Amino acid sequence: MDIKYELKDKTQRRTEPLIPNEPLPFGVLRTDHMFIMDYEDGEWQNARIVPYEDIAISPGAIALHYGQAIFEGAKAFQHEDGEIYTFRIDKNAKRMNKSADIVCIPNIPEEIQIEAVHALIDVDRLWFPQQEGASLYIRPFIFATQDSLGVHPSSSYKFMVILSPSGPYYPAGFTKPIKLLITEKFHRAAPGGTGSSKAAGNYAASLRAGEFAKKFGASQVLYLDTTNTYIEEAGAMNHFHITKDGEVVIPEFVDSVLRSITSESIIELSDKLEMKVTQKRVKIKEFIEDVKDKKITEAGGFGTAAVISPVGEYVFEDGSSLVVGNGEIGENTKKIYEYYTGIQTGKVEAPKGWLRKVERKI
Ligand code: PLP
Ligand code: COI
Repeated sequence: MDIKYELKDKTQRRTEPLIPNEPLPFGVLRTDHMFIMDYEDGEWQNARIVPYEDIAISPGAIALHYGQAIFEGAKAFQHEDGEIYTFRIDKNAKRMNKSADIVCIPNIPEEIQIEAVHALIDVDRLWFPQQEGASLYIRPFIFATQDSLGVHPSSSYKFMVILSPSGPYYPAGFTKPIKLLITEKFHRAAPGGTGSSKAAGNYAASLRAGEFAKKFGASQVLYLDTTNTYIEEAGAMNHFHITKDGEVVIPEFVDSVLRSITSESIIELSDKLEMKVTQKRVKIKEFIEDVKDKKITEAGGFGTAAVISPVGEYVFEDGSSLVVGNGEIGENTKKIYEYYTGIQTGKVEAPKGWLRKVERKI
């Protein structure tokens, strides 16, 4: 791909590695530049890296009215050799195209998406946060730009990538287990819907439930399927639990559940972790009974932003609560977290192809 570079003047650009004041929030900071490519006249064109700034879009843009927009979330890590590596970015690129299919957006070849991400990180590499546990969060997204009030797929789009030097998604990081609200009031997705995509509208639809959860002191909602029988997801994470025998169970990837790259990775790592990792439909009633009977001793969520977030307690709308194990971070959860983050940060050998070095080109 031919990328045009319209970079900030050298004097305006970061010259030193980023040492932010503690604590570094998730998703707030931006780097100096962004990547943009347009879809016009039936093809993706005009790839460019430009200073990060507001962009002009038509007030009638389809994305603004009908939500034809999708995104991805990935991370890059700086290793001891000083180089930056993206983590499983090919999986994000593949899932972007799957989401694109679901909301009728034209695909972008995976290698082009990856090249865009790597070129942008290369330009802004000094923005890598030098704090323990921090990473460069990568946000690629596509949205419909055609000015039209008819409900139909847009004829034009923008593909963009922005970067955010970030700390943990949940402010306490891995130190404090989160709480989830078990409720039948809200559902994230339905069979035949868009739940298996990272469509922007799925997240708009989740806001009310997230705010409702906060009233009960919970970080998020544990989403059930529309029949309130099975566990589906935990906010913007896949859910998992671990039995007293050390088996990790992740709800099946039905079409109302996002196929988490973190979950897939833990499944692929089961031999290395020496843990049994299975997927099945998990009945909420059985789950609650098994937590009470201590047959389930650990639980949590898997996700790029949230990494591995232990859940210490589930709360209900009547104010009652259900503590998992002893409410602390369990040893299996810790083992998974350490192994997984060890791979990401280069301390544990990564399976082939999981990490890609950001080459120095600029
Ligand atoms: N489920 C939902 C609804 C999400 O938004 C995310 C975050 O991307 C995940 C699960 C976790 O997916 P991944 O591990 O690929 O980040
Ligand atoms: C991610 O984990 O990357 C996500 O996309 C979740 C997000 C909505 C913060």
